[in-house]
Amino acid sequence: MLYREMGKTGEKVSILGFGCMRLPIRGSYVQIDVEKASNLLDYALDQGINYMDTAYPYHGISTSHGGNSEIFLGEYLTESSRRDEVYLATKLPTWRLENEEDMENFLTQQLKRLQTDYIDFYLLHSLKEKQWFHLEDLGVLDFLDDAVADGRIKYAGFSSHDETDFIKEVLDSYQWDMCQIQYNYLDENIQAGKEGLDYAAEKGLGVVIMEPLKGGVLADYVPPEVQKIWDDSPLKRTPAEWAFRYLWDISKISVVLSGMNTLEQLQENLQTAENGLPHSLTSLERNLMEEVKEVYQGKISVECSKCGYCMPCPSGINIPQCLSYLNQAGMFEDYSEVKNQYYFMLKDTERAGNCLECGLCEELCSQHLAIREELKKVVCKMGN
Ligand SMILES: NC(=O)c1ccc[n+]([C@@H]2O[C@H](COP(=O)([O-])OP(=O)(O)OC[C@H]3O[C@@H](n4cnc5c(N)ncnc54)[C@H](OP(=O)(O)O)[C@@H]3O)[C@@H](O)[C@H]2O)c1
Repeated sequence: MLYREMGKTGEKVSILGFGCMRLPIRGSYVQIDVEKASNLLDYALDQGINYMDTAYPYHGISTSHGGNSEIFLGEYLTESSRRDEVYLATKLPTWRLENEEDMENFLTQQLKRLQTDYIDFYLLHSLKEKQWFHLEDLGVLDFLDDAVADGRIKYAGFSSHDETDFIKEVLDSYQWDMCQIQYNYLDENIQAGKEGLDYAAEKGLGVVIMEPLKGGVLADYVPPEVQKIWDDSPLKRTPAEWAFRYLWDISKISVVLSGMNTLEQLQENLQTAENGLPHSLTSLERNLMEEVKEVYQGKISVECSKCGYCMPCPSGINIPQCLSYLNQAGMFEDYSEVKNQYYFMLKDTERAGNCLECGLCEELCSQHLAIREELKKVVCKMGN
């Protein structure tokens, strides 16, 4: 296993991290298959993976409930006596915070669920611009300082799926140790994007990547045109291998998380990680990936530049985000992951189904898009 430093913390973390949001299950998402999941973790640790990522709601019935991922991990690490072999990362469910005591209560609960007296990397989960001021008012940054000072957490970080400008603002507002962003070869200009990644790394943060395979779709739903490019290449790699190699080529990335739920996936990703050195892709390989990106980008149907001139929509719709999800959905035959994000990230009022067709947005659109028609397509693809 190769290890990299987690930014300025200097901690040596495995370049492949175990994402505990998609553990093997028995039927329903809340029911973790404890035997299979334990075997996977045993194997991962034996092979040198030392970073595990979980969060309060993972493997729960909804984001408002505590899920079983933390509980399973706590039991696993205690029963196997392997707590000291791993950096444990979990997250504070920021959307559940109503008052100051909530922060303390969640951390206390999480330490208990994880059966540990410290968490290595404690992240504010899924920061969104619309909640940030509320969190600052609650004193979330002082809370992090206190928890670091009394040793309940070692390092403080955050995760976010929001846009670059907001993420840069968050990065400027505290001495973070690390952050977790979505990134893969199709997301250079989505969410934090390359700009956010570079900005975080320049500030000395360790950067942890989530959704390296865009939730699996980059491996599972390869368009024939893309498959042809892979097949024609003299280098034979699986789509997952290409996607991981693209990320490990970037020296600013510390850990790439993967939600592996079979031994085959774990073994494949471990094998790929053996060659995951920074700057290890040749120019030929990079060109090939550029070709693949171009094919995916050719599937973009709405040329929205996300300038935001169309906003605010009188009905409250987040027009640029709706169009961005429409574009992402158009890239894949199975776009269920994109649909999940559409529902997870946007409030009911921000979704396309609320359009009253007033047309104000079209008068303001810098790209002269027929936004009302595009929003109808969003509803067709995603539902209301
Ligand atoms: N903070 C946040 O808001 C947030 C959000 C998302 C994720 N995360 C964290 O980041 C972790 C990684 O994200 P992710 O799970 O979305 O990662 P991902 O790697 O983009 O997607 C995981 C899926 O990829 C597929 N996969 C993995 N390895 C494969 C391989 N070698 N070949 C083919 N398919 C493969 C599996 O899909 P199938 O099961 O369909 O085979 C797996 O469920 C999560 O587990 C979680 O810990 C955090």
